[in-house]
Amino acid sequence: MKIILIGYMGSGKSVVGKALAVQKQLPFLDLDEEISRREKKSIPEIFSDAGEIYFRRKEAEVLKELLEQEANFVLSLGGGTPCYGKNLELIKNAAHTHTVFLKTGLEELTARLIKERENRPLIQEFDTPALLNDFIRKHLFERNYYYNQSDLSLVTDDKSVPQLVTEIENYLN
Ligand code: S3P
Repeated sequence: MKIILIGYMGSGKSVVGKALAVQKQLPFLDLDEEISRREKKSIPEIFSDAGEIYFRRKEAEVLKELLEQEANFVLSLGGGTPCYGKNLELIKNAAHTHTVFLKTGLEELTARLIKERENRPLIQEFDTPALLNDFIRKHLFERNYYYNQSDLSLVTDDKSVPQLVTEIENYLN
């Protein structure tokens, strides 16, 4: 079984993914970390040295490679991963794959991300909550179309990590 966590930046994909992996006794993989490791650069360095188009190409390559593996795992994607090229199609067509969308509200995302912009090149320039909120609102409008095609959607606001893990486990059982 391959469990794939989808959602906007700051929706908790990595935190929930790690906890879920422990619970399911599966390895945890983070797509951004896999890209970083292979490129020997941080995500902001890849964006600034090579540009977003290069990053998206690497993202698609590494995703494809991971989906082709026999191994089972919990994988957290980058916020943009399902929204580019054939990534979502690939995920849907891969064998034994379950997609889970962590759906976090606009205000909660803004509050979380205003403090966590450093490692996220796409939002680095938005240095006030109002500017960031406006960007996220428009971005979600574009991206929700892709996120909403997940097998399971979970509203994360006001839920603890263990609660979210339990809800995902209940769905999988
Ligand atoms: C991105 C999200 C980031 C990372 C890159 C681009 C996006 O991942 O892949 O900065 O397009 O939303 P996280 O969602 O883990 O922050």
